Amino acid sequence: MNSELTDKNTEISELTLEDFARLFGTTIDDIPDDCRELIAKTDFRYKKLISDKRKKIILRILKTIDSDSLSVVGAHRMPAWEKGWSENLQNFVDSNFDLNELIPKFVKRNEVIRLNSNYVLPTNKNFETCFVEVLRTYIFRKYFSDAPAVYEFGCGTGLNLVNLAKLFQEKKLYGLDWSTASRDIVNKIAITQKMNLTGILFDMYSPDYQLDIDKGSAVFTIGAMEQLGKNFESFLQFLLEKRPSICINIETIHELYDQSVLFDYVAAKYLERRGYLQGYLTRLRQLEVEGKVEMIKIQRTFGSLYHDGYSYIVWKSKA
Ligand SMILES: C[S@@+](CC[C@H](N)C(=O)[O-])C[C@H]1O[C@@H](n2cnc3c(N)ncnc32)[C@H](O)[C@@H]1O
Repeated sequence: MNSELTDKNTEISELTLEDFARLFGTTIDDIPDDCRELIAKTDFRYKKLISDKRKKIILRILKTIDSDSLSVVGAHRMPAWEKGWSENLQNFVDSNFDLNELIPKFVKRNEVIRLNSNYVLPTNKNFETCFVEVLRTYIFRKYFSDAPAVYEFGCGTGLNLVNLAKLFQEKKLYGLDWSTASRDIVNKIAITQKMNLTGILFDMYSPDYQLDIDKGSAVFTIGAMEQLGKNFESFLQFLLEKRPSICINIETIHELYDQSVLFDYVAAKYLERRGYLQGYLTRLRQLEVEGKVEMIKIQRTFGSLYHDGYSYIVWKSKA
């Protein structure tokens, strides 16, 4: 643990099963056994940042927001994603298909995170990855058990699909992304790990209606609609027309930040600076009023340093 960031006297806390249930917006009875096992065997301890340490971290975030080091999302970012995923592809091949090479480089290790309305420093340097593994497992078990096929849009290195394939060997899984390197990684995972998985090129800005979504199947995104900013309507219309049985978006959700509170205000400002997803929840709520979609769940969970990238919305298209 980085001692510069925490006081010696600050108490160490640990996320319990009850905490996970609360963070996922459910009760402990609803947490499946494999999540319980992950929680039991993983180090989920952390220290809250207080007084000067907290001020220091907020200052660091504000300076980053003001700096010119941050990119803004948009169609122009495609080559950057291609380059990033090409490196992961090369490392995956060179390592003889080591699945650890699928962890994206943007997932920071040993970093302060957002948890329970506080900045906290975990003892486990892979806290974010481990938390997401529990969250994914919970969501996949709860909502995808009956779906014969599952589609992840903006799947990147396919690591979420690997997790899903391990939970449900019999399902047909599809990884879609606008990067050819992403498609190639997914297809290499399928061959080397003998998984029922297919990588397909797909641009959410300009959805290909030729793509069939199998009847009864499920759709999800993780940190991918974030990249569409305010230009999510084409993809949303595609989903409404294809009518999967369920859609889950694990994303940063602008409307869920309470901007009268500093902790959330800085996250909203970061999101706006990057041009991340804005207006999506409002649009879904409008479609619900029009009777076109059914909203099933809207839940904040936790976040990495800058924003809550792992809030989730569960919804489905009606009639
Ligand atoms: C932050 S990464 C998330 C990747 C993966 N879902 C994960 O959880 O690791 C965003 C992904 O969205 C993809 N992406 C961005 N814009 C896209 C678009 N217009 N169409 C399809 N994929 C897109 C990127 O190539 C990248 O794989």
